[in-house]
Amino acid sequence: MKSPEESVVIMTELVLPNDTNYLGNLLGGRLMHWVDIAAALSAQRHSGKVCVTASVDEISFNEPIKLGHVVHIRSVLTRAFRTSMEVYVEVWREDPLHGSRARTSEAYLTFVAIDQYGKPLPAPQLEPITDDEKVRFEEAAIRRENRLRARETMKALRG
Ligand SMILES: CC(C)(COP(=O)(O)OP(=O)(O)OC[C@H]1O[C@@H](n2cnc3c(N)ncnc32)[C@H](O)[C@@H]1OP(=O)(O)O)[C@@H](O)C(=O)NCCC(=O)NCCS
Repeated sequence: MKSPEESVVIMTELVLPNDTNYLGNLLGGRLMHWVDIAAALSAQRHSGKVCVTASVDEISFNEPIKLGHVVHIRSVLTRAFRTSMEVYVEVWREDPLHGSRARTSEAYLTFVAIDQYGKPLPAPQLEPITDDEKVRFEEAAIRRENRLRARETMKALRG
């Protein structure tokens, strides 16, 4: 058993010109890349194995992040199932000149630890400690059900 705290990853990035679009806003794809890396590190820290992204749930961009802003990304495991692990990621924008901060995105991603042949490996179980961790742990089972059901429905629709 491992605690969520052991899987926490904090990533800090400065938004540079190459990360932005014509309006000087951070590209959504660049942010998704950073989110994926932070979440993968959480899954790998928890499992001690190489992990691949199995899915990314809806990710919304609630406010623009501008050139020169600092992006803080925090990722943490919410629950481990048989071989899959759910990771929760929060993104914060900091304007370093004005000292203001705002949460701009959150997302849930699923990772699977694999061996050298790409075969899924069992994941160590997670023991939530705080009230917030316990709520996310319980909710993770519901999110997983919804994810798997949506996958099956899509498959059935395509025949
Ligand atoms: C993810 C992957 C390892 C699953 O392998 P698989 O042969 O389908 O194995 P299984 O069917 O036994 O599934 C393994 C686990 O993954 C979960 N899973 C598989 N596909 C999933 C998806 N799309 N979303 C969420 N979970 C998924 C299963 O529910 C299962 O979880 P559990 O063991 O905790 O019950 C395989 O699909 C893969 O390698 N995908 C490519 C990963 C990758 O390259 N990612 C980068 C994207 S560019």
